[in-house]
Amino acid sequence: MTDKATRHLLDIDSLDSDTVQSLLNRAGALAAGSAPSHLDMTVANLFFEPSTRTRVSFELAAQRLGMRVINIELDRSSSTKGESLTDTAATLAAMGVDCIVLRHPETGRCHKLASEVPAGLSLLNAGDGRGHHPSQALLDAATIAALGMSWSALDLSIVGDIRHSRVARSGLQLFRRLGIGRLRAAGPPDMMPDDMDLAGVEVCTTLDEALEDANAVMMLRIQRERMDKTGWPDSKHYHQEWGLTEARLASAAPGCRVLHPGPINRGVEIAADVADGPRSLILKQVRMGVFMRMAILEWLAGRHQAN
Ligand code: NCD
Repeated sequence: MTDKATRHLLDIDSLDSDTVQSLLNRAGALAAGSAPSHLDMTVANLFFEPSTRTRVSFELAAQRLGMRVINIELDRSSSTKGESLTDTAATLAAMGVDCIVLRHPETGRCHKLASEVPAGLSLLNAGDGRGHHPSQALLDAATIAALGMSWSALDLSIVGDIRHSRVARSGLQLFRRLGIGRLRAAGPPDMMPDDMDLAGVEVCTTLDEALEDANAVMMLRIQRERMDKTGWPDSKHYHQEWGLTEARLASAAPGCRVLHPGPINRGVEIAADVADGPRSLILKQVRMGVFMRMAILEWLAGRHQAN
């Protein structure tokens, strides 16, 4: 690890703009075939919530950098015996783990842990409750950057369950920072946030309003796991009002691209033919995710943008 202060990736707002740019450049270069660094480091994946792409993506990224990767099976770990997360982290650090990738259902849990862990142990926030998901926002931006579109030309709408989405919070912070041309957020009233900074974001109340002239739209899953069951919308009705279909996309800019962090719920927030169609960037996001996480791990190790 670097001898400078230990780096963590907790949220987008705590990254300076040079670091953001460096991460985007590096992920783009790695995707284009640049040789990865070799990092003599150990990373532990600690996921207290289900995950397919984020966990596998961090694991593959670490492997491609030659790192040792430990996946902690939570149902077999000492957390089932009452060990606190802080003690688990200190235990892993004592065994030589350099970095923990943490996903946790509690909003703010990663920030709290960062104030408790021993120096030299880096934390990477892979999603904390409704809080933040910085690596997702960075990979989304890197996917768009790879299209060659300038930030000022980007007219992006984020649509769906914004209120419960850490992807939306981190994405809004990042795209605002990048100075994109137009940034809209839209969803049903009970899925609009009451605790997110929406300065510089146009709030729309219908899907059509959000889609008009947009050249990129990011659809979000309904985060039922963060809602009271009584608040669960009817999927069919939701699809009629808020589901992205080819027909609804007619009012968007020609060639409007479609993003989704996954997992997708076909026929709910997005029609299957849109998800699988030529506008869809969904699998490109997944592919870029590995390169962005490689760039992040290199940055944690002090390999680029020494700030
Ligand atoms: C997102 C998450 O976990 O916040 N998924 C992901 O990391 N790709 C979005 C979601 O679960 O809907």
